Amino acid sequence: MTSSLATVAYIGATILFILSLGGLSNPETARRGNLFGIIGMTIAVLATVLGPRVTPGGYAWIVGALLVGGSVGLYAAKKVQMTQMPELVALMHSLVGLAACLVGFASYVDTSTVFPTEAEKAIHEVEVYIGILIGAVTFSGSVIAFGKLSGRIGGKPLLLPGRHWINLAGLLVVIWFGRVFLHAEGTAAGMTALLVMTVIALLFGIHMVMAIGGADMPVVVSMLNSYSGWAAAATGFMLSNDLLIVVGALVGSSGAILSYIMCRAMNRNFISVIAGGFGTGGGAPAAAGGAAQPAGEVTAISAAETAELLKEAKNVVIVPGYGMAVAQAQHVVNEITKVLRAKGVNVRFGIHPVAGRMPGHMNVLLAEAKVPYDIVLEMDEINADFPDTDVAMVIGANDIVNPAAQEDPASPIAGMPVLEVWKARNSIVMKRSMASGYAGVDNPLFYKENNRMLFGDAKKMLDEVLAALNG
Ligand code: TAP
Repeated sequence: MTSSLATVAYIGATILFILSLGGLSNPETARRGNLFGIIGMTIAVLATVLGPRVTPGGYAWIVGALLVGGSVGLYAAKKVQMTQMPELVALMHSLVGLAACLVGFASYVDTSTVFPTEAEKAIHEVEVYIGILIGAVTFSGSVIAFGKLSGRIGGKPLLLPGRHWINLAGLLVVIWFGRVFLHAEGTAAGMTALLVMTVIALLFGIHMVMAIGGADMPVVVSMLNSYSGWAAAATGFMLSNDLLIVVGALVGSSGAILSYIMCRAMNRNFISVIAGGFGTGGGAPAAAGGAAQPAGEVTAISAAETAELLKEAKNVVIVPGYGMAVAQAQHVVNEITKVLRAKGVNVRFGIHPVAGRMPGHMNVLLAEAKVPYDIVLEMDEINADFPDTDVAMVIGANDIVNPAAQEDPASPIAGMPVLEVWKARNSIVMKRSMASGYAGVDNPLFYKENNRMLFGDAKKMLDEVLAALNG
């Protein structure tokens, strides 16, 4: 393939990636968006492999690597549970970071490139230094994020004394060694500076994510997503590959926008997320996933009584959360929705931006179960309607419907926007026990007078509700 044909293919792939991102912003066009992405990536890989920079001797290596990487990816994608998606994503980000580091070292020791001027050589060395720096932070940070999300590492933030000073000292050392690197006489001297910086960057990545509490992990995952984009862009600079620069910048900026949206959804300040320690001050959170402090009487309800309430209602809002995903209850939720709508009940869904364990988690599950898109509303679109709602049915959700976020300034989730289900005439919370949710905080909703608890596995209980509705 000639270099101009490869450039045309790269432009085509870039356009497809932009269309893909546009498509993914809406459930109705997401499938098409994915297709654009797949076609774009196929074109990009083919144009690179068949392009002018790969010599025929390299094909065996590339095919071997594609087979190994492709098989691992296929196996992981087939095996992963929907609820394990964030940890898989974190692991993949770590690979992007690792690749940026390896490409950086390879391109530094590669003596085949001749730079016509000193300035161009210096620019290349800056690219290598920054590329490895971003790559190493992304790599170690993502590995720790994977450990935290999969429960291999505890969710409690690690708060070393003087941690901000440690980070600042690390930054200064990195800048100092950057200067040493750029002025190094020969590759060996430069390599020492590069290795010192890499170790510091790896430690910084570990420290940064270890200091972040469990409740802020969603933001961290999307932040690392953004970093992985910048690491890819840095790799593009090192390899003089325009497509990688553009795609890296797209991923980097979309990840940054997503982090911002999630921070807003959790009422968190981006800087304070990065500074870490969320969940340790003020309130007294229960251990994540553990039993919450009892704060009054709760009233239980049976599946048959739930069905009665739903039948008599005019307006019903369903709020799904992580438990619906665990129980795989989305199909029976759709069945219940169909039955109620056939009876003339106005059924809608309220989706919190961080419901579940990844952005869009609930939308994906509801779309899979074929719930119509037009009755699935965002938190901001539905919150004002709760006072006119007869029944708010909470399915396996906890933190996202916690009134303490509004009522208790000492709560660790104080200020986080939540779905105001307690304003409905009746709310029903479906979960297995009184255990707390992801943030590990007690939920006063359970003890409210107009709230009922339907205890049990969401799928099992909803099957019973459906049977009672049809009976
Ligand atoms: P959570 O607050 O985690 O609550 C989920 C509830 O589901 C639990 O209290 C659990 O109670 C219940 N549950 C679990 N398995 C169940 C089953 N089989 N049947 C019925 N109930 C079941 O979830 P949420 O309300 O969706 O809030 C999301 C939380 O995750 C937020 O704190 C958010 O910050 C965090 N987070 C979000 C993301 C993204 S991006 N969405 C990523 C990581 C973390 P029982 O054990 O009593 O059943």
